[in-house]
Amino acid sequence: MKIDRSKPVLVTGATGYVAGWLVKKLLEEGINVHAAVRDPSNEKKLAHLNAIAENAPGDIKYFKSDLLQKGSYKEAMEGCSVVFHTASPFTSEYKDPQKELIDPAVNGTANVLDTANEVESVQRVVVTSSCAAIYTDAIDCANAPGGVLTEDVWNTTASLDYQPYSYSKTLAEKKAWEIAEQQSRWDLVTVNPSFVMGPPLNPKFSTSESMNVLKQLGDGTMKMGVPKMGVGVVDVRDVAEAHFRAAYTPEAKGRYITCGHNTDFLEMGLVLREKYGKDYPLPKGSIPKWLVMIVGPMTNKLFTRRFVRNNVNHYWKADNSKIKKELGMEFIPLQKTMEDGFQVLIDNGTFKK
Ligand SMILES: NC(=O)c1ccc[n+]([C@@H]2O[C@H](COP(=O)([O-])OP(=O)(O)OC[C@H]3O[C@@H](n4cnc5c(N)ncnc54)[C@H](OP(=O)(O)O)[C@@H]3O)[C@@H](O)[C@H]2O)c1
Repeated sequence: MKIDRSKPVLVTGATGYVAGWLVKKLLEEGINVHAAVRDPSNEKKLAHLNAIAENAPGDIKYFKSDLLQKGSYKEAMEGCSVVFHTASPFTSEYKDPQKELIDPAVNGTANVLDTANEVESVQRVVVTSSCAAIYTDAIDCANAPGGVLTEDVWNTTASLDYQPYSYSKTLAEKKAWEIAEQQSRWDLVTVNPSFVMGPPLNPKFSTSESMNVLKQLGDGTMKMGVPKMGVGVVDVRDVAEAHFRAAYTPEAKGRYITCGHNTDFLEMGLVLREKYGKDYPLPKGSIPKWLVMIVGPMTNKLFTRRFVRNNVNHYWKADNSKIKKELGMEFIPLQKTMEDGFQVLIDNGTFKK
């Protein structure tokens, strides 16, 4: 389906880390953006988007919307050809996973996609899913056919009690496909990024879990070492590009694993050492699994015994050939991604000396 580029597009969760770069790309391409945010009066949270819009050919307009309020994306969606649904909570700070993660992810996706059914101008919906909808733990890679994650694999191991964020992304993507398959006017494409790293556009207000990990690499939290846990990493700028191509490539179809590098947390820290190793307490090596097993559960609620057993010293591997072949994606090198992200935190005064 050829997508009309003269019409505006809706970006849900436009204040987010990933969405910021997507909005930038769209505005620079001259596309008008309807930015759905929870609080359009919070000028500080929108300053980076307004600054981009000032110097770009596209215009930005804000709409007040909440995932949990039915119909609240209708006004923002009117007249749009594409809906980019990025909004979803990504945090490890929660008390009630059903209310804080699952409900906004799943009911929010239903809310946005049900509205797409009511708005005639919508041709394509691009949902920001995640590799979390494909796997929970690094060990799931070894258990996948051929020892590698592909778009055919679905997460079957997350639950409300274990890795509820991954569970929220799995249920939300399933809900999206269920709604899409009941109609034929618009088509659905999902972008499934692995762990996103790289420079935030609004470092002071970024609450994404990605920022917490980048911060912990440099603030001394991991100076004694980092558990060698397999993970996939992709640059936030590549994730934005992938969304753009998923929207405007007529033949784009299905899910797209969006991952630049099959790596681990140790390598993510080590690539920063060349440039920043002298000045910041970056990790130098890995912590043995037996030690993580003992101290992990005491220091971080994520590091349960099950999590350590299934992630530490397990490789991570996903096949990114579909997005390379069908959308022509190339990926920014890991070292550049990590350095550019780290530099923004330094410039922003995140690491007090
Ligand atoms: N970062 C990663 O490593 C990664 C990897 C794979 C997939 N993803 C996906 O990428 C998307 C963006 O994540 P991110 O890393 O950019 O996180 P983020 O910066 O925290 O962005 C999340 C966005 O969701 C919005 N949101 C949360 N709850 C909402 C609600 N009830 N109603 C309306 N908006 C709500 C937030 O709006 P407010 O500003 O109002 O809070 C924020 O704009 C998510 O779908 C996430 O699952 C992220």
